[in-house]
Amino acid sequence: MSYQTLLTSLEENIFIITINRPEKLNALNKIVIEELSKAIDEVYNNTEIKSAIITGAGEKAFVAGADISEFLPLDQKTGEELARKGQQNVFDKIENSHKPIIAAVNGFALGGGCELALACHFIIASDNAKFGQPEVNLGLIPGYGGTQRLAQLIGRNRAMQFIMTGEMINAKDAEQYGIANKVVTQSELLNETKKILSVIHTKAPLAIAKVIEVINNFDHTQQGYDFEIKKFGECFSTEDVKEGVTAFLEKRKASFKGK
Ligand code: COA
Repeated sequence: MSYQTLLTSLEENIFIITINRPEKLNALNKIVIEELSKAIDEVYNNTEIKSAIITGAGEKAFVAGADISEFLPLDQKTGEELARKGQQNVFDKIENSHKPIIAAVNGFALGGGCELALACHFIIASDNAKFGQPEVNLGLIPGYGGTQRLAQLIGRNRAMQFIMTGEMINAKDAEQYGIANKVVTQSELLNETKKILSVIHTKAPLAIAKVIEVINNFDHTQQGYDFEIKKFGECFSTEDVKEGVTAFLEKRKASFKGK
């Protein structure tokens, strides 16, 4: 299949998808989103493809965000549609792919670009990569899953600060936050990512698919909070909670019995 805004190649069963609008820092316009959806379908359906890498053309950007030039005509309904379509047709489809899809972040990963990398199963970054969710500068919030995936990945408070300030972080900080698994030079980026995938290719594909499925299902819903409420209540049926609370009030060390 050939694309207007993507370059694709198949190398050692790895499908390399390169978003190819370097003059616009690979911003995600309507066509890129439509074509990414089709390219991910290829990953799902082509039996020669065992895994995929998503990267950006040029040396400056992975993806500098959704294409801002398409935003002015949007209203509440069409804004919602843009986010829903993007999430369903691209971002969720990447996350739920039964084959590994890795982001090779080679420069700016901002807004929808950061969200695209986050939707991938993990991220390898080049040392010039910069991550950020600058939507608040535009009077917006992330719409391609960024609030949810970031809060889960880096924690609620860091996500709050990251998204509320709209500040960019460099590759080293992204690695420290756990956004990027590894940082390498730009010239090593694709090879390093391929090397990791070549190891994964030696494993059982069904097991890999299940790893993705099970890890993705970790606490995505209200279920985690409900579970916490239930377990919190259960503590009050133990002897130990009576002992712990009483010991605190009596200013002595608690002696727990495991009952
Ligand atoms: N949407 C549409 N066009 C974009 C874009 C985006 N998200 N990001 C960059 N571009 C375009 C610029 O308009 C410019 O186009 P032009 O040459 O026709 O004027 C081109 O890409 C190069 O960008 P430029 O701003 O000149 O590069 P820079 O090195 O000075 O700055 C950034 C790089 C990434 C800091 C800057 O482009 C930027 O802030 N982009 C927007 C990031 C953003 O807010 N993303 C979230 C969107 S929701």
